[in-house]
Amino acid sequence: MHYDIIIHHIADFRKEDEFQVDGMMNFLGLMDKKPMILAVDDMETNLMLLEEMLQEDFDVHCESSGKTALAWLKENHCDLVLLDYHMPEMDGMEVLEHMKESESLHNVPVIFLTADMTLESYGFEAGAVDFILKPFMPDVVRLRVKRILNYEYLQAHLADEVNKQTKLAESRRASLQRIFEQTVFALAQAIDAKDKYTHGHSRRVAEYARQIARVAGEAFEDQRFIYYMGLLHDVGKIGVSNAVINKPGELTPEEYDEIKAHTWIGSDILQSIEEFPQFSQGARSHHEHYDGTGYPDGLKGEEIPAPARIIAVADAYDAMTSKRSYRDAMPQDAVRAEIEKGRGTQFDPHFANIMLSMIDADERFLMRESPTMTQPRK
Ligand SMILES: [Fe+2]
Repeated sequence: MHYDIIIHHIADFRKEDEFQVDGMMNFLGLMDKKPMILAVDDMETNLMLLEEMLQEDFDVHCESSGKTALAWLKENHCDLVLLDYHMPEMDGMEVLEHMKESESLHNVPVIFLTADMTLESYGFEAGAVDFILKPFMPDVVRLRVKRILNYEYLQAHLADEVNKQTKLAESRRASLQRIFEQTVFALAQAIDAKDKYTHGHSRRVAEYARQIARVAGEAFEDQRFIYYMGLLHDVGKIGVSNAVINKPGELTPEEYDEIKAHTWIGSDILQSIEEFPQFSQGARSHHEHYDGTGYPDGLKGEEIPAPARIIAVADAYDAMTSKRSYRDAMPQDAVRAEIEKGRGTQFDPHFANIMLSMIDADERFLMRESPTMTQPRK
C-alpha cells in the first residue's frame, strides 16, 4: 500500500477512538481481510477463552499441541501465534525454535502465554515478541495482539515504501544525469559551431582528457568530471567575437588579448554552476604552461589544477591533429615530437608521458579529427 494512502487512512482513523491502540494508529483496518491468529494451548478452556476474546476482530484457529500447531502453520497463512509455554511433549520454546529455523515461519510474531514471569528474558532471547500473563485479562490480550500486529504491518509497509522511494530516487537521479550530459553536449556543440575549423574539437578533447585521466589512475567519478571539463574548456569563446575567432590571418595584439579572454570568461560562466564549483578550473587554466609562461594567471607546475594540466595536453594534441585555417592536420610523428618537446615546459611531464604512450599505442593514427570532417563548414 502506498504511503500517502496510509496517511489518508490515518486521517480517517483519527476521527474514531476505537481505532486507537496504545495511543498509536491502528492499521489493521487497512488489511484486505481479518488477521489470522493461531492459539496454541494444551488446556481446552484457555483456547475457548482466547477464541471468545479475539473472534470479533480476528480469524482464530486453535491447536492443542506444539506438533499439530507446526503442522497447521506449514499449510496455512498466519499473522500471529499465541503460544502456551508449558505443554507436554513439545513445549512453547521448542515450537518457537522450529519456527525460527523455518524460512516461511521465522518472521511470524509469537506471543508467549505463561503464568511464569521468570521465563520472560529467556523467551525474548529466543525471539518471542511479547508475553501475556495467565490468567488472561480479555482487554490486555486484545490490546497486546492488536499492538503487535500494528507494528508488524507498519514495519512491513514502511520497508516496501522505503524500497519504492529508493528506486524512484535512483531513476530520477539517472534521468537528471542524462539531462545534464545532454545539456553539456549541446553547449559544447554551440561552442564548436562558433569556429568553422574546430568541428567536434570539444568532444575529442574531452575523450582524450578522460583517457589520460584513466591511465593516470584517477577515480571513475573524477574521470567523468574531467570529461565534462574537457567538453566545456572553451565555453568562454561564446564571449569572443566571431570575426576574431575565424580570422584567417595573423592576430593583432588586441585580437590575441580578446582570444585569451575566453579563459576567464569561461571560468565566470562555469562558476555559476554552484553544484560543481571546480568545473571552472578547466576553462580558466587550460592555457597555463607547466613552466609558468601560460595565461591567464601565469600559474606554474602543480599550482595549475590537475584537470587543467590534463586538458592542456589533450587540447594541444587535438589542435595539432586537426585541420586549421592556416595549416593541414599534422602527421602523427610531428605531433609526437611536439608533445615530447613541450614536456616539462608547456605540459605536465607525467600527463605528457601518458599522451605519448597513447600515441605510441595508436598504430593506425585513429586519434584525430575524422578525415570526413577536415573540410571547414560553409
Ligand atoms: Fe582554449
